[in-house]
Amino acid sequence: MTPDPSPTTALPDGRFAPGASDSNRLRPRRSCLAVPGSNPRFLEKAQGLAADQVFLDLEDACAPLAKPEARHTIVKFLNEGDWTGKTRVVRVNDWTTHWTYRDVVTVVEGAGQNLDCIMLPKVQDAQQIVALDLLLTQIEKTMGFEVGKIGIEAQIENAQGLNNVNAIAQASPRVETIIFGPADFMASINMKSLVVGEQPPGYPADAYHYILMKILMAARANNLQAIDGPYLQIKNVEGYKAVAQRAAALGFDGKWVLHPGQVDAANEIFSPSQEDFDHAELILDAYDYYTSEAGGKKGSAMLGDEMIDEASRKMALVISGKGRAAGM
Ligand code: GLV
Ligand code: MG
Repeated sequence: MTPDPSPTTALPDGRFAPGASDSNRLRPRRSCLAVPGSNPRFLEKAQGLAADQVFLDLEDACAPLAKPEARHTIVKFLNEGDWTGKTRVVRVNDWTTHWTYRDVVTVVEGAGQNLDCIMLPKVQDAQQIVALDLLLTQIEKTMGFEVGKIGIEAQIENAQGLNNVNAIAQASPRVETIIFGPADFMASINMKSLVVGEQPPGYPADAYHYILMKILMAARANNLQAIDGPYLQIKNVEGYKAVAQRAAALGFDGKWVLHPGQVDAANEIFSPSQEDFDHAELILDAYDYYTSEAGGKKGSAMLGDEMIDEASRKMALVISGKGRAAGM
């Protein structure tokens, strides 16, 4: 069927991005692969994996003494590697360190043409996004790059960040995603658990529900993507899947992967099932058919035993858009 162009955006590679606007910032991000910027072997290997996004890390996966060289390693791999089909991101250090400006200047001056976004960790307030936006603008102007092309991914990793998440989402048109950083977040609120992503022992409900929903609401209210962070038990694929399914069920667009074994799980979990995709397409067809048959005077229709109306159509568009983004 011909997709309704309004809720999805055609990407340069012909795919459709999930979402509900004509923004070109909604790139596929079902699986976001973390790659230490100081490890050439991993940087090489990451290029062959089926992740939608890679982020080359200058922050926590990179030891302080390794950071200066890692900046140049990342520039080289962005410029010389084959990242076809992947969203290319570099995670810099947060503004409370003394590394951020040098990370941004070196990476963007050196590889700004081959880079989609900068990820800013531990974002606490809108000003931190504004500062990064201004720095990026200066570099883009100096280098003769298109101004505003490089996006920002904002990681929410502490109570201040969560309190300010809507303002953070609105701080710059460059912001593309809001990411939950569970490890730092758990530490920052003194959660009594050491297993990142798993429920803290002794609490009978979902300890992450409020955080995930608050991030999701800020993302949706501002037409951004919501991404769930890492699951650190990399050998426990079933555990990864359970946590990823929780986020996907709420409406999150993707999740970090720290290991090649998590990539397929993320791609599958953050795509609709074939059955749901086919059903969504059927709803769209049926709705269009019956409402146009009635000359635009009918607001609802029947699909078998199911009544469908404008709200069903919107829900179907989301599933259909995600399916198309996944190449269905
Ligand atoms: C990721 O950065 C996390 O802290 O979970
Ligand atoms: Mg973190």
